[in-house]
Amino acid sequence: MELFLDTASLTEIRTMWDIGILDGVTTNPSLVAKEGRKFEEIIREICALGVPSVSAEVVATDTDGMLAEGRRLRQIHPSVYVKCPMTPAGLKATKILAREGTRVNMTLVFSANQALLAAKVGAAYVSPFIGRLDDQGQEGMDLVREIVTIYRNYKFPTKILVASIRHPVHVLEAAELGADIATMPFAVMEKLPNHPLTDLGLARFLKDWEKVPK
Ligand code: E4P
Repeated sequence: MELFLDTASLTEIRTMWDIGILDGVTTNPSLVAKEGRKFEEIIREICALGVPSVSAEVVATDTDGMLAEGRRLRQIHPSVYVKCPMTPAGLKATKILAREGTRVNMTLVFSANQALLAAKVGAAYVSPFIGRLDDQGQEGMDLVREIVTIYRNYKFPTKILVASIRHPVHVLEAAELGADIATMPFAVMEKLPNHPLTDLGLARFLKDWEKVPK
């Protein structure tokens, strides 16, 4: 499974990129707004690090506007995936952009039927927002399970990008279900390598090592 950071912070991205566990980055207008910097500049800098998949979202709500923004965004760098919202206008834009060779990440997906449509119009990624479903009292991971089944039934090549992840158990469950990608905040990714028994074990090894004659 590929691991993506859900952030527009270059500092966070560089940290995980340097460790070598980062496969991609997803951004959205809210994350970009937190940085107080120009959108395209941020996307360009993330791509320049060598990150192979960088999702950049359109903000137009009509198909023509999405097409104009999507075509502009894809010119920034070959690693850019254009994020279009799951609306009728977004589906139409995705179909056109996909035919032109642009890889589209269909975002704000909350139902399996929406995911079915995303695959049918040729989206490269579908992004079910599981944390936001959990927040509503609905089991977000059930949606991932449904999408995995549907995509396997019809051999759709669209990758399932589990989004709106809130904690490491979400990552684990997404992996168990066979999702292609999990995108998560920095605070979640930095927890993945940690285990108290690892720390304890290392401390014990180092203490014992002191007894070895040098
Ligand atoms: C995914 O591409 C979205 O940017 C993201 O996962 C949304 O997560 P949130 O529900 O924590 O805002």
